[in-house]
Amino acid sequence: MSKILVTSALPYANGHIHLGHLVEYIQTDIWVRFQKLSGRRAIYLCADDTHGTAIMIRARKEGRTEEALIGEMSQAHQRDFAGFDVAFDHFGSTHSDANRKLCGELWQALRSAGRVVEREVTQLFDPQAGVFLADRFVKGTCPRCGTPDQYGDSCEKCGSTYSAVELVNPVSTLSGARPEVRSAQHLFVTLEPLHDFLTGWTQTPGRLQPEIANYIAGHFLAEPLRDWDVSRPAPYFGFEIPDAPGQYWYVWFDAPIGYMASTQEWCEKHGEKLEDWWKDPDTRVVHFIGKDITYFHTLFWPSMLRAAGYNLPDRIQVHGFLNMRGEKLSKSKGTLVSARGYLDAGLDPQQLRYFYATKLSARVEDIDLNPEELSAKVNSDLVGKVVNLASRSARFLEKTGLSAEYPDDGGLFRAAVEAGTEIRDAYEVFDFARAMRVIMALADRANEYVDRMEPWKLKKDPARAKDVQDVSSVVLNLFRQIVVYLTPVLPRLAEATEKLLGAPIKSLDDANAPLTGTPVAAFSHLMERMDPKKFEALVVPEPTPVADAPTEPADDGAALAAEPLAPECTIDDFTKVDLRVARVVAAEPVPEAKKLLRLTLSLGGGVTRNVFAGIKAAYDPEQLVGRLVVMVANLAPRQMRFGLSEGMVVAAGPGDKEVFVLAPDAGAKPGQRVH
Ligand code: 2FM
Ligand code: ZN
Repeated sequence: MSKILVTSALPYANGHIHLGHLVEYIQTDIWVRFQKLSGRRAIYLCADDTHGTAIMIRARKEGRTEEALIGEMSQAHQRDFAGFDVAFDHFGSTHSDANRKLCGELWQALRSAGRVVEREVTQLFDPQAGVFLADRFVKGTCPRCGTPDQYGDSCEKCGSTYSAVELVNPVSTLSGARPEVRSAQHLFVTLEPLHDFLTGWTQTPGRLQPEIANYIAGHFLAEPLRDWDVSRPAPYFGFEIPDAPGQYWYVWFDAPIGYMASTQEWCEKHGEKLEDWWKDPDTRVVHFIGKDITYFHTLFWPSMLRAAGYNLPDRIQVHGFLNMRGEKLSKSKGTLVSARGYLDAGLDPQQLRYFYATKLSARVEDIDLNPEELSAKVNSDLVGKVVNLASRSARFLEKTGLSAEYPDDGGLFRAAVEAGTEIRDAYEVFDFARAMRVIMALADRANEYVDRMEPWKLKKDPARAKDVQDVSSVVLNLFRQIVVYLTPVLPRLAEATEKLLGAPIKSLDDANAPLTGTPVAAFSHLMERMDPKKFEALVVPEPTPVADAPTEPADDGAALAAEPLAPECTIDDFTKVDLRVARVVAAEPVPEAKKLLRLTLSLGGGVTRNVFAGIKAAYDPEQLVGRLVVMVANLAPRQMRFGLSEGMVVAAGPGDKEVFVLAPDAGAKPGQRVH
């Protein structure tokens, strides 16, 4: 039997899962569940993407090992995914023995094919942090148009791209130090020898969505393919290249190999062989990815697989980004809602799954999440149309069970069996929006039937008990049929329906025949309405708390007497101290230190500082998250037992409980200098 191996992109281990990520995992999960419910042999694999400079720096800042950090993130990721019913067959890690071994094998194959070349690369180096800087860790003035505060690869203002070494006045966002230009030997994989092959492969109909195939053809395949830099000099968190000591595989080299490593681990658990999934021509490999990582998957990845004689992906399914109210998700606007935040607010994960399903087509379009639309849609469709069918019929059947023979329903059930062909086809071609439209049309027809038959009126006439049973049996069967079609999207509703009717849902074919003569369990609520306020509360940024006004006027001179004024200083002395507005983006107690909180302060534009502040007795960490503070931003970093402290939060008061963190008035922005 042919097999399908499905993956979602491996999430980076340096951040939590948010609603933007979930578009892809929910999309993939729906498709895999659809395949399994269609009787196909499919496995869904994923892993954490654990390597790279960002993890290394973060672990260093937090004073722990990378392994400890990625271990914790893996737990958190898996918990969040499970909370949204994303059911991987295996979730691995790129930092695994299986991955190291496979990386070695693919590397050897590339070497043997003569596809590895060595060249010197000039890069910016942060002398304080002791690392080479990836482009996103450098900011400076655009060498073309002079706009300050631009990243190391391109200018947001004029759109030009350049090399980080060209930036004017570059600054490392890791330490604030001025980077030096240094050179190091790097290893490259050549791609040009596979140019013709890649053209044929990417342009094969069905391989990619047409807009992606065209983009690749126009942007990359129209010119000679550039060699790909796959090594990074130490220090780097990753795998050291066995035949190039001191050099590490770049995170994007080992990440996709993680798809295979995860398969390998799954195979070990299930007594199967990797070759049966990655070499057998009877296996279809399908990758789901976001549009930003297309070229890694359509050019680099196939060329690696080909060198080592593995199966190439059969299909790469690309989706757009999630926006909120038409704008990119943004932390500062409060629209980057975490998966955990959604669940902790008591919102129903199935409702987000359904909403995404209604928005996902086969096209590479961005999805807009409008909170008002989200609740209106799930309440009207899922609660108002689908679940309502059960609440309008199940109670009438608790005593009698379903009619022994399926009653005449005017052809409704039959018509819905026929609609199953279009529903299956829509799921298969990733057009979930169409599948949801067809299913909701079935729900509309079923509701029209109940409205017409008015079983609640029949119920009043004891002579019509059989009619009540028949009408309700039709409605409950139509409900179950709809739930079967929705099972890939709403597995929990399917489970609850199995319990209600004592009949398993194992296949989409369970929609083909009505149930007859079976008992109906006591009805309990199947789904709550979504409270729009609960979701809104997640999106609106927390207002900056205003400090309580003192009850007693305390300007009695005691504070001044306790700490007399310091000797006079000049304006030059003062300007040496760079005070900045910063936002507290994370705050947590330091278990090993009685007085300290660890704060992550954002200066805007992705620049953050780790600060240990002696304010634990005066503030709960949660109180601080989201508010603006003033920090000394150019204080020399200090290595503490638990990590590096990179500044100081400005506060008044003698200490302990008597500490008052300074807050700028509303309107101030992170990064603004305090003069
Ligand atoms: O873009 C990302 O989030 C990457 N971590 C995806 C890696 S996908 C695969 F190649 F591993
Ligand atoms: Zn510019």
